[in-house]
Formats: sequence, C-alpha cells, structure tokens
Amino acid sequence: MREFEFYLPTRVLFGKGVVENIGKETAKLGKSALIVTGQASARKTGLLKRVGDSLKKSRVKTTLFEGVEANPSLETIKKGTKLAKEKECEVIIGLGGGSPMDAAKAIAVLTTNPAPLTNYFGRNKVKEAPLPIIAVPTTAGTGSEINPYAALTNTDKAPPRKEILIDLSIFPKVALVDPELTLSLPASVTAETGIDAFSHALESYLSNRSRPLSEALASEAIRLLVCYLPKVMKNLKDINARSYTLYASLLAGIAIAQSGTILVHGMSYRLTTDLGLSHGKACAILLPVVSEFNLSQGHPKLISLSRCLGESTEDLTTKEIVKKVITRIENLITELSLPQNLKTRKVGKELIAEFAQEVMRNKAKLTNNPRSVTLNDVIEMYEKALWGEE
Ligand SMILES: [Fe+2]
Repeated sequence: MREFEFYLPTRVLFGKGVVENIGKETAKLGKSALIVTGQASARKTGLLKRVGDSLKKSRVKTTLFEGVEANPSLETIKKGTKLAKEKECEVIIGLGGGSPMDAAKAIAVLTTNPAPLTNYFGRNKVKEAPLPIIAVPTTAGTGSEINPYAALTNTDKAPPRKEILIDLSIFPKVALVDPELTLSLPASVTAETGIDAFSHALESYLSNRSRPLSEALASEAIRLLVCYLPKVMKNLKDINARSYTLYASLLAGIAIAQSGTILVHGMSYRLTTDLGLSHGKACAILLPVVSEFNLSQGHPKLISLSRCLGESTEDLTTKEIVKKVITRIENLITELSLPQNLKTRKVGKELIAEFAQEVMRNKAKLTNNPRSVTLNDVIEMYEKALWGEE
C-alpha cells in the first residue's frame, strides 16, 4: 500500500437547512463579515436575505460585496479588498458558485498581505494568515468550499490568463453545504457544474498523485455522479438526487485537494479565457479525448474505474474496456446536454499550437497526468476536441 498524507482543516456541516447556522458560525470567528457573492441569483432566490437575517441575529455586522463575475478579475479582488479593509471585516464569506468562493479566498489573502495579488499565484506563497473564510456553495461542482485553490483571471496579462492561487491557508474554516441551495439552479448550470465535479473525481482517480484515501473519495464520487447527475437533469427539484450530487462534488473537491487535477483541467484554461467557454463546457469537450489518450494503452485502475462507472469488464480485452469507459463518459455528457466536441474550425492551427505550448509549460499538470505527453499529443487532443473527429 502506498504511503500518504492527508490534511483537511475545514469543518463541514452538510444537510438540508444548514445554511441557517451561518450567523452562529461566523460569530465564532469575528464580529464583522464581508459577504462575497455573484451577479444576482443569491438575491433573487432570497438566500441573501436568509443569510443576512441569520448574521444579524448573531450580532455580526455585515457588508455586502455583490456582482462577482465568472473567473474573477484582479480588479474585482481589489475592490472587494478595499471594502473589507474600510469596513474592518474580520471574516470573509463566499456565497455562490466557484467564482464568489474563489474571490472570497483571494480577498481574504489580500486583506492581510501586501498587494499585488499576482505575487501569490502559484503554490504556497502567502506569508500572513488570511482572514478566516466561510464557504457556502450554491452549485455542485467546484469543490472550492473544501479545497485550498482559488482560480482567478490575471487581467494584468494580455490576453488575460486563468491562474491558480494554491495555499493551505485558504482552506475555508467552515463549509456550510446545503443541498436545498442547489434546487433553484437551471439545467445548464446544473450540467456544467456537474461535469466539473465528475472531471475532478475522474482526474483525481487517475492522477499520479492519487493516494489510497483520495482514491476512495474519488471513486465514490464517480459512482454517485454517474448515477445521480442524470436523475437531477430529469427532475431539477429531486432533493435526494441533488443531495447526492452535492455530496459527490464535496468528495471530489476533497480528492483534488490531495491529488491535484490532470490534463483535462490543464488543457481547459485557455478554452475559457480565449474562447469564452464556461469551465464545465471546456471540461466536457476535453474529457472523452483526454481520457482516451490516458487509458488507451491500459491503466492499472482501468477495471476498477469501469466498475465505478457501472460497466462490467468480464471477458473483455483492454481495448474493449477502454471503449466501454469512453462511451460511458460520452453518454454522461450527452445526458447532461453538453457537447462532446465543439465541431468548429474557427480555432486555427496556430492558436491550438499556442494553447498546447502553454500546457507543456504547466509542469504540475504534466507530472500528475498518468501518461506522459508530447506537444504533438496535446495538439492532436485539442484538434479532436475543437474540430471533432475527421
Ligand atoms: Fe474544475
């Protein structure tokens, strides 16, 4: 058995209605809080009011920082930090999907550490302890509530680049994981965030940095997501299926906090910044092609993976099992009404080569990936994902 280390400093409260604990939990960490949230949905659904009431009841002074965009920019983080400092906030609450939670983490860092934020991109560069963070996810996908990652857009670069701040100090202190908050998500967001969770689980499972404990969590997340994501898509109000999907996303988030992600995520970033694809859509079009590349020559976990996906492997050759696994992944993407490739020729060879060169500089993703990869391999995978099979 392989040795492993496991670190998870976040206290998790999971269940219907746990969001009502936000006042009590925040009061334990400070007297004033900045609520960081997205464009409008928390206000529309009444969640913002519920959270505000709970904080008020616990005598926590609150300041609202609303309107965080997808893949938050440096400008947004600066504005949020200014507000947190002016109002002397002691706790930062991230309320919403991955973007508000990641913005909350970055604001927590920048409130106690000197600017610019770009100094902290990469791994373990934060010097002073950030303000404590409370995460309240309203989507089932990112896992940001339980990991030490913040994905942001580096708008100082032209064109802007998606970059990741990784630091153990930005694990949220508390995650309030309430499946009822995901009931109002539309089908498109459910699907795009759901495939992100699935991608986290699959990538973690196959990562060279996976370990017994992360494998156990990732495999359970894969098993639950293939079962419950299609159920949620059939009935968006199915609270049981929503609960298992959110739970699986949490498991996948814990798993990637230990193992990291592999090439699917590594190749996805430029598709988001340059082509404007959502993170989930970018993962969806890359999943089949990267999985086929990684598995086609066999993989020690191929049989166990196909079992997680509900596929039997009896009397099948490696090639047949790989085909079954890829078909299962493609079927899941179809069940979520997401594309398996873009079928567009708008992205030319030159841009694809540029994307691929950048991937080859991302040593962490290359090291994690179970099969070694050349520049040409990455180009071919991009061509298949963007152009479709010839
Ligand atoms: Fe992701």
